[in-house]
Amino acid sequence: MNFDLTDEHKMMREMVRSFAEAELAPGTRERDENERFDRALMFDKVAELGLAGVIFPEEYGGAGADYLSYAIVVEELSRVCASTGVTLSAHVSLGANPIYKFGTEEQKQQFLVPLAEGSKLGAFGLTETSAGSDAGGTRTTAVLDGDEWILNGSKIFITNGGDAEIYVIFARTDKKAEKHHGISAFILEKDTPGFTFGKKEQKMGIRSSPTMELVFDNCRIPKGNLLGELGKGFKVAMQTLDGGRIGIASQALGIAQGAFEAAVNYARERKQFDTPIANFQGVQFILADMATQIAAARLVVYQAAYKASAGQPFSMESAMAKLIASETAMAVTTKAVQVFGGYGYTREYPVERMMRDAKITEIYEGTSEVQRLVIGTNLTRG
Ligand code: CAA
Repeated sequence: MNFDLTDEHKMMREMVRSFAEAELAPGTRERDENERFDRALMFDKVAELGLAGVIFPEEYGGAGADYLSYAIVVEELSRVCASTGVTLSAHVSLGANPIYKFGTEEQKQQFLVPLAEGSKLGAFGLTETSAGSDAGGTRTTAVLDGDEWILNGSKIFITNGGDAEIYVIFARTDKKAEKHHGISAFILEKDTPGFTFGKKEQKMGIRSSPTMELVFDNCRIPKGNLLGELGKGFKVAMQTLDGGRIGIASQALGIAQGAFEAAVNYARERKQFDTPIANFQGVQFILADMATQIAAARLVVYQAAYKASAGQPFSMESAMAKLIASETAMAVTTKAVQVFGGYGYTREYPVERMMRDAKITEIYEGTSEVQRLVIGTNLTRG
């Protein structure tokens, strides 16, 4: 077993870190305060680096890199700006990847190529007011009328909602089927008549990532926009989330890493009792726990990424990765605020934002409880 990153992975980390520190860092606090999504910076420039389609083959406009590269990219963006991290993660894993995995060649040419090239932004609409953890409770409907599907219903909490041009949407196509059966996936373009945006969420963290409600009122989409098999949409959603959870795990890892580095730097500079607080064993123990938790989480996240690229089953591993990385992010950012003391509780220092940003990683793309359910089911099924 080799724990060293390849030269390609190291170069990828270096490139994204330079970009994040030079271009994202100066405005992260302002964007958070003003809940401002700066698309030109947070997506278009990321795309200019060739990252919008990082895991997709070059023939579809991607970079042809592996999942570990993708994990490193999201980690490095999130180390500086978690909102930029989730913008890319939702775009790659949730918007583009289901089209790559389940789309026809025609759909890939029409929708995946602009997503992978970064000329269009992607999003994913699964969650509804009464279908959160119970994704099979989808109530949005799609009815075939001649050559078109008519969508009715709504989706909430949609990352990149309002700004994305291409959405993968889940709707019930068989009203008689129960639970997760009879749900299908569709590709929906912005500006389709009958497709509008509702409430924009005001959030605790990742405040510069837009989160919107999607509303479908007799929204007509071409018959050919059905993604994957009719009635098999739940599995499209689950397999998409298997990959997405690696993205969110990487986001959590990046947030934790950023908070840890800020805490070490602060502990070296901040003097109390005539000495830097880093000299106190009590502070060193906190830093030691932070570093150890991050190292453990990183191994699990990279293992899930490795399995995804190696074509091995990785549903349980991605759930484990998201579980450990998100809980690490919450623990580490809370400790970072503690190291900063009163200053850490103010908006003058980044750890306050990082602690708020960390919380969502335990919730979206499946709560920690859902991850435990996925892991438990995988461990115990015959
Ligand atoms: N891959 C393939 N198939 C899968 C699968 C997977 N990973 N997981 C489940 N399935 C299949 C099962 O094998 C089963 O198939 P059969 O019908 O052939 O038996 C079927 O799907 C139903 O499985 P379950 O009985 O396990 O389904 P369930 O209704 O009990 O739900 C759940 C399981 C794990 C709770 C699932 O509903 C879930 O993951 N919920 C959380 C939803 C979620 O993560 N939402 C996030 C929204 S997106 C988001 O947050 C984006 C963002 O903002 C960034």
